[in-house]
Amino acid sequence: MVPSRPSVQVLPSILAADFARLGEEIAAVEEAGAAMIHIDVMDGHFVPNISLGPPVVKSIRRATQLRLDVHLMITDPDRYIPAFIEAGADQISVHQEACAHLDRTLRLIQTEGARAGAVLNPATPVSTLQDVLGLADFVLLMSVNPGFGGQEFLPHTIEKVRRLRAMSADLPIEIDGGITNRNVADTVKAGCNWIVAGSSIFQTSGAAAAFREMQQIARDALAIQV
Ligand code: DX5
Ligand code: ZN
Repeated sequence: MVPSRPSVQVLPSILAADFARLGEEIAAVEEAGAAMIHIDVMDGHFVPNISLGPPVVKSIRRATQLRLDVHLMITDPDRYIPAFIEAGADQISVHQEACAHLDRTLRLIQTEGARAGAVLNPATPVSTLQDVLGLADFVLLMSVNPGFGGQEFLPHTIEKVRRLRAMSADLPIEIDGGITNRNVADTVKAGCNWIVAGSSIFQTSGAAAAFREMQQIARDALAIQV
């Protein structure tokens, strides 16, 4: 059966943006046609880096109409989920590896009013999600070990995408880490819908042009899919 995947979207990840000019950086990709912004939350425990918290999400919420996709790379996410949704997150993803009770955490996100995603690290098999696929609104597969932007794409993720797509025909699949114009088509052909890109968008001479180019490559890859 051919999976029904009507669209593919590139999600600029602001981790690679200039935080002193965050409003302008977001406005540039919004004007270029982005539908969602990816926001990385790191706590220095679950991952070896610290990024931002609910006050920054709240400011971003005031600055843009874009859907806010908040990726929690933190321990004990249940404790912070209400604050991120209150701040304006439209969807929240949590790591399977950080949740002792993933089913309950996904339900908490939904009860609080956001779309709920489950995230897997590169070493975690997709089979571990089998019993929450009916509950999750989307799944995010990490294609680098989380914590930093600008890392190399881990090629085995492509096979994980294929395996997950075989488990569910229409679940949105997001991919995050090391995405460039050279590998984005492969991720789309394997079954990804939402492509997160940080360095490839913001660490360039122009975020808007970089976004348009990657979005076009991703759409073309979807169009030629058999
Ligand atoms: C990594 C983050 C990613 C990061 C991706 O832990 O989850 O969202 O921003 O950055 P690039 O696209 O530079 O790999
Ligand atoms: Zn991320």
